[in-house]
Formats: sequence, structure tokens, C-alpha cells
Amino acid sequence: MKKEWWHNKVAYQIWPKSFQDSNGDGIGDIPGIISHLDDLHSLGVGILWLSPVYCSPLADEGYDISDYYDIDPRFGTLEDMDRLIAEAKRRDISILMDLVVNHCSDEHIWFKKACADPEGPFGKFFYIEKHRPGDPMPTNWRSYFGGPVWDYLPGHTDYVYLHVFHRKQPDLNWENPILRKEVYKMINWWLDRGIAGFRIDAIINIKKALPFCNYPADRSDGLCSIQRMLEKATGVLGFLDEMAAETFHPHGAFSIAELFDNKLEDLPRFIGDNGCFSCIFDFAPEMLSKSQDGWMGAKPVTPDMWKAAVFGSQRLAGTTGFMANIIENHDEPRGVSRYLADGERSETAKKMLAGLSILLRGLPFLYQGQEIGMENTVFTSIDQADDCNTHGEYNAMLSAGLSPEQALSAVSRMSRDNARTPLQWTAGRNAGFTSGTPWYPLNPNFTQINYEEQRQRPDSLLNFYRALIALRKDPQWEETLVYGVTEPWLEHEHRFMAYYRRGPRTLLVLGNWQKQHRSLVLPSKPRQVLLSNLPQVSLFDSHIEMEGFQFLVLAMD
Ligand code: GLC
Ligand code: CA
Repeated sequence: MKKEWWHNKVAYQIWPKSFQDSNGDGIGDIPGIISHLDDLHSLGVGILWLSPVYCSPLADEGYDISDYYDIDPRFGTLEDMDRLIAEAKRRDISILMDLVVNHCSDEHIWFKKACADPEGPFGKFFYIEKHRPGDPMPTNWRSYFGGPVWDYLPGHTDYVYLHVFHRKQPDLNWENPILRKEVYKMINWWLDRGIAGFRIDAIINIKKALPFCNYPADRSDGLCSIQRMLEKATGVLGFLDEMAAETFHPHGAFSIAELFDNKLEDLPRFIGDNGCFSCIFDFAPEMLSKSQDGWMGAKPVTPDMWKAAVFGSQRLAGTTGFMANIIENHDEPRGVSRYLADGERSETAKKMLAGLSILLRGLPFLYQGQEIGMENTVFTSIDQADDCNTHGEYNAMLSAGLSPEQALSAVSRMSRDNARTPLQWTAGRNAGFTSGTPWYPLNPNFTQINYEEQRQRPDSLLNFYRALIALRKDPQWEETLVYGVTEPWLEHEHRFMAYYRRGPRTLLVLGNWQKQHRSLVLPSKPRQVLLSNLPQVSLFDSHIEMEGFQFLVLAMD
């Protein structure tokens, strides 16, 4: 595997609307991000991904773009963006934008022109089909956010268009080379402006199984999961290789894809020396709660399940390339709420989860607020949900016969809004997020969980994240932690996770994922304890007593 500049970095995702408001309108913005670059630098962040800040009606919070070449005034201006790129560079931080090109907004000029003339050139930028009243829709696919993927083309009763996400997100037709050229032009325009690359949204969806056809319905709504179509679609790599050759490769850009449901045997075609991307996210742990029945069927994830999923991905990626390790993002509930059980969510346990994740092989990718252990928020009514997907899932649960209380309880566990509450900077008014009214209510626990408190306290979670990242960058251990292989140890031990990182040096990473303490005999006597999440380490030769939720990193040679 060729070495790349980004291999030894730690990345961080910003969800701009909830990061920091600078002008009192209650919405986070780019100047707000700039004001915290020193915080991110001191955490050890080297790559920053911004969820979309382009012009957008925000039907899906910016993942519905109406102008790819401009910044939404709510987030700032192009000049702010240039300043962010420059200020980040001064701190050795590279900026990634979000590349959302499976679809655009229905308010994008392309779609407006398509509506004005469905048979004209812009009609061919989308999937638009003739439709006679009373006829079935061209396919029975269910959109990701619920309901059919087809809707009437605005202003028409004889045409329908395809949207695999929200109806305000019409799918772009990648079969059309003119559209693809437009997309590549836009990507290059941003790369020339100085960004380091892109996080690439929902990209597997750009290839549809054609010609359109129905698949067996899998719920009482008579529709089928979009998954059935994706399984039949072949040839996405043709588009991806072309995009890489036209944009990322000539720029030496970094690209990281949101790639669910890829055919895993194809991994070397996606990442590594011959991949069309630099990296992909490892979603195996998140997939554990996915179910055919949506959130209704989402199972709790146990420590043993998490471990098995993570080790599965470590084996799969092997030394082919890097996957990015996450515990959460803007589409998922908070990692500490999902993977640590109620009653077990102590700061010690949060540190253990952090350590087990950050020291894996791959690119550590943090999500805003993770570093202070932000948790799921509280829902007492569905009216508190902002996210379109949350409403879709809630309605689906009611139609399936769940009571509003049962549906709300699933929303509390799974909603994307859990990760989208404003960042908790201080214990003061609005957690220091805004001087105005926050666009979305804060998690009420901000008086206990906030940056200000943790910055000052030496044994805080924030400082533990700093220590983990510093260890990964320590010249003594860097080569081993970045490039060393992962080798599970005592893999089948219940509620316990341990792995070696073997490179020029050998490290052993241990997490006692239970309340009870545990006695262990190590394979040999460790040379040094490099990190512990508790002040006390009970090590006698090769015998170790681990407290509940204790996490340790040991140097073994
Ligand atoms: C991706 C994004 C998600 C968005 C969807 C549609 O999954 O991460 O937030 O809703 O794509 O763009
Ligand atoms: Ca603002």
C-alpha cells in the first residue's frame, strides 16, 4: 500500500447548522467554524469535513442543493469559505466539502428547466417518465424517507420523476454524459479553490437498475426497499472510475465515500492503491441496527455485536486500504447512547469506547460533540423532530400499527436529530452556541456535558481524546498505530474487546466492557502502560486486574 499524506491524520465532521452561530440568528455558520479552529487544532484534527453549506432550501438540511457554486447565506459567503480554507491551512488542517450528486434540489435551475420542458435537454438530466392518470407508477420502489420514489413533475399531470430520497431531491441521471460533465466541472471548480477533497454522499445510488421494473413488495404499503434495485444495478464503478480520473486523481485530492451496501468482494476497486476513492466509512457497526422493518425493528447493539462487526471490517480491509472508523455521524444517533447501555454510560465507559475505536487501523473520523461525549436528546412529542427521515419513519410505524408512544420511543433511540442538537460549548445561556434563539433546542444536559468544563479538567473525556490522538501521532508509535495490522486477542471473550496493533512495535489495546472487574493473564509481561482511562492500573508481571470499563494501551516490547 502506497503511503499517502492523509494516512496519519485524524478527521472531524462538522454539521454546520449546529456547530457555532456567530451572528445571533440561531443558525451555525462558517465564521462560527473559523472561531473554533484552534480548538480543533488542539484536539489534533488534520482533516475537516463540512456537511453541505451550499445554497439549499434545507428540505434535507443541505443535502438538497439548489446552487453548487455558492454558499447558502445562512451559512456565510464564498469569501467566508475562502477564509476558512486559508485559516485551516495555517493550522495544517485540510478542508473537505460534501459532494451530493446523486440528486440536487427541486429548486435547482436544472430541475426548473426540466419542469418547463420535460422533453428538452434538461429533462434528460433527471429520470422523468411519461405517465397516464390511473396507471401504476413506473416502479414500486420505496424511497429512503418513506413513500414511493415517484411524484408528479411540478406543473404536470402526465409526467413523473424519480427521487430515491425526499421528493425535493430529484435524482440526477448519470447515464447522461452531459450531466456527468457538468458534475465534474463543478468538482474541479471547488478543488481549484483550495479544498483538499470531498466526502461523497449516497454515491452507490447513482447507478440504477435499468430498464425500470418492480420487485416483490416487502411491506404492507405494497412497495419494496430501494435495496432490491441496488442489488440488481451493475456498473457503478464505470461512473466512479471516470469521476476519479476526471477530477480527484489529477488534483491529488482526498475522497471518502458514503458507501452502503457495496459488493464487498470489490473492496480493492473502491479503496487502496487501485481504488476509485481514497477511503470509505466503515458502517458495519451502524448496520447492526438496520432492519427490513425500519426503526421499529432496530435491535439494540451489544458489546459483542459491536466487536464482531468492527473486527469483521478490520479483516476485510486488511492491508488493502483504509476505512474510516466512526461511532456516529449526522445520520445516526449518538454513539455513546447507542453502544453503551443505559446505566453504563459513565465517562469512564465513554473513554473506553473512544479508545477502542480510535486505535483501530484506519482513519479515525470524529463527529462534532463526540469528543465531549454528547448523548441522544429527549423527545416528548413528534413535533420536536425536525428531520424529514424521522417523520417518515414515525409515520411508517404508526401505519404498521404501533402506538404513538411506541413510535416515539423508537424515534428517541434512532432519530438523526439526536446528533443534530447544537454543540454544547459552555454551561451558560444556550450553551454558548448562539446569542439568539437556537434553530433547534439544545440537549438539556448541556449544563453537565460541555466543552468549557472539559477543557479545564485534566481527566475529562475531551482530554482523553487528545491523549489518544497524541499517542497516534507520537513518533515512537505512529508507524505501528497507522500501518500496523490489527490482530484480535481473546476474540470470543464475552463483553471484552482486545487487539494487538503489530508494526515495527507491538501494542495491546484492552477494554473491559462490563461493570465487573476482570482478571487476565497477558501473553507476556508488558513493557509499559501507555494509557489508561482510570488512575489505578493493577499490573503484576503478566497478571492484570481490570476494573469495570477499564481501557488500557500496553507496549508489549
Ligand atoms: C446521505 C446523507 C444524509 C442525506 C442523504 C441524502 O445519506 O448523509 O444526511 O439525507 O444522503 O442526501
Ligand atoms: Ca448564524
